[in-house]
Amino acid sequence: MAAQRINPSILSADFVNLQSELAAIHTADLVHVDVMDNHFVPNLTMGPPVVERIQAVSPIPLDMHLMITDADRWAPGYAELGAFSVTFHAEATEDPVRLARRLREIGSRAGIALKPGTAAEPYLDMLHEFDQVLVMTVEPGFGGQKFMADMMPKLRQFAEVKRRTGLDLWLQVDGGVTIDTIGIAAEAGADTFVAGSAVYNGVPEDRIAELRAAAAAHIH
Ligand code: DX5
Ligand code: ZN
Repeated sequence: MAAQRINPSILSADFVNLQSELAAIHTADLVHVDVMDNHFVPNLTMGPPVVERIQAVSPIPLDMHLMITDADRWAPGYAELGAFSVTFHAEATEDPVRLARRLREIGSRAGIALKPGTAAEPYLDMLHEFDQVLVMTVEPGFGGQKFMADMMPKLRQFAEVKRRTGLDLWLQVDGGVTIDTIGIAAEAGADTFVAGSAVYNGVPEDRIAELRAAAAAHIH
């Protein structure tokens, strides 16, 4: 995997042709899989049975993004079915450290996601417990929204701790990432970029290469 990762979100794929939509992004690093439960966010996507099939046919590892309440109960199941990375929301767990330890114990990477209104401060001292921090750059729930550049100070807070401590932590942005905005996020310290509509609204392989080049041009 490259130093900067491009993770297409299949939320913007054609759900009736998931296998070919997955094949179309084989040049990406991981496939971002958005699980929504109609409670944590006002949208509903898929659950374990579908994710299990995606895991079976995907040419690249799974980057799960769980937009669901009661992550403590449901997140471990995604690690158990073999997902490479499982990211839960800070707002949806009673104990982020306990849950992250459980995910790592099962064998997946553990990620913590923050909605736009959630501050970084409570989490800055526990970053060694995670493999990834996801700074949401839209309100979670839907693809195709506008990138919130005002999330960059929060991203920089995480990037600063990472730099100071030398932690092997991936900093992910998700929401509104396009050829025009990816550089802003890279500049602020992101190294893992989720893009849904920006990948699937064109020829995925070309879009992935363009996003990769744009991110690389801005990375420190
Ligand atoms: C939004 C999802 C995103 C979404 C991004 O809640 O978490 O992963 O697919 O879509 P774009 O890239 O179109 O903003
Ligand atoms: Zn997502």
